[in-house]
Amino acid sequence: KTVLVLNGPNLNLLGTREPAVYGSQTLADVEALCLKACASHGFKLDFRQSNHEGALIDAIHEAGRAQAAGTLAGVVLNAGAYTHTSVALHDAIKGAGVTLIELHISNVHAREAFRHHSYISPAAKAVMAGFGVKGYALAIAGLAELAQPA
Ligand code: DQA
Repeated sequence: KTVLVLNGPNLNLLGTREPAVYGSQTLADVEALCLKACASHGFKLDFRQSNHEGALIDAIHEAGRAQAAGTLAGVVLNAGAYTHTSVALHDAIKGAGVTLIELHISNVHAREAFRHHSYISPAAKAVMAGFGVKGYALAIAGLAELAQPA
């Protein structure tokens, strides 16, 4: 099965964007790390980034259809700042009925108050935050765990 790793706004700037918060690895480095994590769990990787809310919504709808067809294990979503603003993404995740892990590179709860609320969390299966870019590999491992009986 495939894992969709979906990255939202400004994550194309990883590596140069506030390195003290997000580290110095680029989005290409993150893709390589995800590829390795997916391979070790027998998953294929579909890795995407968009700065556009509608494109992220379309990708989530597509993921819902793929999961229903049995070809997708789930989604790892770093919605960036849309996490804190987007009712539309919340509705898309619920509407698509997709298994989705919300991911943040930084520990959003240790940062500004406006980052403490997430519209994604109530629609997500699980939340990963504060592990730096290593969180992507942990979230992929989490999807593999969810696929196994308890
Ligand atoms: C982020 C945290 C968000 O608050 C921020 O807007 C981002 C990145 C993270 O990965 O830590 O763009 O999702």
